[in-house]
Amino acid sequence: MLVSSKEMLQKAQQNKYAIAAFNIHNLETLKAVVETAEAEQSPLILQTTPGTCEYAGIDYLAAMAETASKAADIPIALHLDHGNSADLAIKCIDVGYTSVMIDGSMLPFEENVSLVKQVADYAHKKHVQVEAELGHISGVEENISSSTELLTDPMEAAEFVKRTGVDSLAIAVGTAHGIYKGTPKIHFDIIRNIRKVVSIPLVLHGCSGVPEDDVKQAVECGICKINIATDIKIAFAAELKEFFSLKPDETDPRKYFKPAIESVKEVVKSKIHIAGSYNKA
Ligand code: 13P
Ligand code: ZN
Ligand code: NA
Repeated sequence: MLVSSKEMLQKAQQNKYAIAAFNIHNLETLKAVVETAEAEQSPLILQTTPGTCEYAGIDYLAAMAETASKAADIPIALHLDHGNSADLAIKCIDVGYTSVMIDGSMLPFEENVSLVKQVADYAHKKHVQVEAELGHISGVEENISSSTELLTDPMEAAEFVKRTGVDSLAIAVGTAHGIYKGTPKIHFDIIRNIRKVVSIPLVLHGCSGVPEDDVKQAVECGICKINIATDIKIAFAAELKEFFSLKPDETDPRKYFKPAIESVKEVVKSKIHIAGSYNKA
């Protein structure tokens, strides 16, 4: 059974490690992530963006994740990533997602508060966890490029959490979605200052391309969920390109997906070790 992300994030927070949340797009990436997390005995958050929900269908995604959770002996949560409407968040909750993000980070503060509160009130009746974003994380997510970076203000974060009743908070502290041109500059002091005034789990988005030591330091400062999307997409696509450059006539998906799946598994294993969640299932 899919489980809530509540207990796994609480345990991670108490014991100073993070849960890696992986964006999956299809059966191949889902299985690669689940099998690796199981081999590493790591609790797992599978997540899908609105674009993936549209591509695969939330009923298919929920059914695949539910099936995976029954077969695997690790806790698995299914999360809507960057939910862009209350309507989609509610649909995901109703189809079996155990966690949803409602992203009002581009809205004025008061509008973000009321959107998140509306979703949280519905979600909590169904024991579903809600993640929100305050401040704004820049970069390329789902082909939408956002150049606005608004670092999270700790006192605003405290007020936001209190007024919305949200369960975890994505903060903007220098990471960005997608690949980085240079090295990201993470504001560890802001993470620490938010941690002092906010007691719910803090989430670091944009973790693809962030140097390993920076992610580890962010976790030490109080991050307990790290989001990984781009590194998985790159690994999967790179192996496919390589495969077809060597065997342009292959038509069997069971053959051409195989090295791509293996490559995703390596990325997932490495991220789980950076997060520190291995042997914590
Ligand atoms: P990356 O694509 O940089 O890994 O960011 C992932 C993310 O934040 C998903 O919400
Ligand atoms: Zn994100
Ligand atoms: Na990134």
